[in-house]
Amino acid sequence: MPARPKFYLTTPIYYTNGLPHIGHTYTTVVADVIRRYKRMRGYEVAMTTGTDEHGINVERAAKNAGIPESEFVAKMADAWRALWDELGLPADEFIRTTDLRHVRTVQWLFKLCRENGYVYKGHYTGQYCIYDNAFVNDAKPGDNCPDCGRPTETLTEENYFFKLSAFQKPLLDFYKKNPEFIQPETRKNEIVSFVEGGLKDLSITRTTVRWGIPVPGEEPHVFYVWFDALTAYLSAVGGPDYEKRGFWPADLHLVGKDIIRFHSVYWPAFLMAAMLPLPKQVWAHGWFLMDASKMSKSKGNVVLPRPIANMLGMDALRYFLLREVVFGQDGNFSYDALVTRYNSDLANGLGNLASRTAAMIEKNFVGKIPKAGKLQPQDEALACETQAAIGDVLDYFDKMNFTRALESLWVVIAAADKYLTTEKPWSLGDSEADTQRKAAVLATTAELLRIVTVLAYPVLPDTAAKIWTLLGQPGSVSAVELEGLRWGQLASGVSLGKPQTLFPRLEKSEAIERIESMANEELNPTAPPAPAPAVASSTTAGAAAATSLAASEKIGIEDFAKVEMRVGQIKTAERIVGADKLLKLTVDIGTEIRQICAGIAQYYEPDSLIGRKVAVVTNLAPRKLRGVESNGMIIAASVGPEGRPVLAGFPEDVEVGARLK
Ligand code: MSP
Repeated sequence: MPARPKFYLTTPIYYTNGLPHIGHTYTTVVADVIRRYKRMRGYEVAMTTGTDEHGINVERAAKNAGIPESEFVAKMADAWRALWDELGLPADEFIRTTDLRHVRTVQWLFKLCRENGYVYKGHYTGQYCIYDNAFVNDAKPGDNCPDCGRPTETLTEENYFFKLSAFQKPLLDFYKKNPEFIQPETRKNEIVSFVEGGLKDLSITRTTVRWGIPVPGEEPHVFYVWFDALTAYLSAVGGPDYEKRGFWPADLHLVGKDIIRFHSVYWPAFLMAAMLPLPKQVWAHGWFLMDASKMSKSKGNVVLPRPIANMLGMDALRYFLLREVVFGQDGNFSYDALVTRYNSDLANGLGNLASRTAAMIEKNFVGKIPKAGKLQPQDEALACETQAAIGDVLDYFDKMNFTRALESLWVVIAAADKYLTTEKPWSLGDSEADTQRKAAVLATTAELLRIVTVLAYPVLPDTAAKIWTLLGQPGSVSAVELEGLRWGQLASGVSLGKPQTLFPRLEKSEAIERIESMANEELNPTAPPAPAPAVASSTTAGAAAATSLAASEKIGIEDFAKVEMRVGQIKTAERIVGADKLLKLTVDIGTEIRQICAGIAQYYEPDSLIGRKVAVVTNLAPRKLRGVESNGMIIAASVGPEGRPVLAGFPEDVEVGARLK
């Protein structure tokens, strides 16, 4: 058997000072979809993801957690890896920038660049924050540090520089010869004009940062950010021995639009300087925004993947991410749109088609897929439409136009629904002619469903596997070769598998409340009862590792002191339309009146709360619950198996605003 061609793709390696949100999940989902698709097209595929573990931010985060950097990043890397595994997105190669294989590759790449004359020692002058011990990028003399707000000082330090300026022409030539290197086209135009504007040499080492890969023989120099991070793509597939594995050069680097410049300018320049093969393509996707702004924990608007996967299934999240926003553009994330799509496209669309087809075959043909027999023009028309969709969908996948690929598939699903409505197989009797007609209609529908299932597999792997079993088709759907996919290959006479509901229909507000409640629990793992009703969320290695960072068995008093709790007095309380369990409160906390949502609506009448003094966590990042901002948390005991909230109160009179210690 001839060797399969290789295909190597990467996601960015993610910073370890936080845990994955939906933005990171998006890139990794896309990588997984492409991996599954390429495998069905006959490639041997390797997909790399990993963690970017060096630098001043990690130094600081480890210090805050009171543990050594190496321990901090090990826990975070475990949490990232475990979450990807849990979400069905495991890396073929998970690379950490603290891996020895990576350290060696960075040092080797530097040596090659230096031997070829592209590295020199110089001085870097910039604005430095003496309190945070870090240079502040892009700051001018007189600017304050954006992190701590204190004045910066001008500082000069010795650095190694990379001669990026020497690569202006080689890069422009390379872009011209490889017009598809940067995608989408708009990003390419931006990069070309950036490079045409001239390139400055780049400082690639630091002496003021401690937590980094040492430059051999040149301590205290450590490699700085991008020279270290980008090289991970090569370290993951063999580093200096990349030829043995045969995966380098990479076929595809998937990145967010914010880091396209590093990937399409710095990275090819480093590789050119080292005379190593260049990657074939860099694809920049847009951002998922929440309320029109980028997600961040401090803004309280991050969306977490696990609660969605727990509530709707990972396939639903994958479908939504790819269907909702054209790959390459920005888009808004909303739970409302997510659950709406789940109900309309998955529950009423694909799920319903699969279950009604199976039910009719079960009833009319003792659960065995019938042979089509004599066909009528409308059967053939549907066959032609489906056959044509195969070509379209493959073409869209090749062009990374996932939205259009899914749209085309759902057009076919809608055509099948219409066909069934017109042909009404359920209204036919048991005469031979009627039975033959039923066989033709149901075999046609089942064949359409088989093709849709194969084509949907890269995006909906779990669902496709279930429908494949339901249709009693041989082997595994993931092993079907897309090259040979044609109308007319349905195995007939085989028995259907056990029916199962693929996507139970959900009541929207209930589903959103449950997702938000799980997200709250995950974001505040050590907090007392969440303000929205508690729903058991699965405990996973990822969650456990992340939690253990915040709550190692015993905490010191300094950790406890980080939680600010005060006596608050409830001023107003009202129900929230569409959220049965939430109350919107305004609470006087001494210094200000806060709006806080609490998951107590089923147990407390709003009016009974007015004037009541309660314990409030006042320094939680704000977040939105059912679209309503909540700025703090009311403390309650969780009583009984249902977690009935009982508000904490004060038997003696206390002053509003008093701190709980
Ligand atoms: N560590 C660097 C990448 C080094 S690659 C050699 C980094 N890490 S990151 O964790 O900050 O971001 C990783 C990726 O997540 C980026 O591609 C970024 O665009 C993407 N996203 C982060 N938030 C996002 C959204 N809200 N939406 C979509 N993607 C976004 O940068």
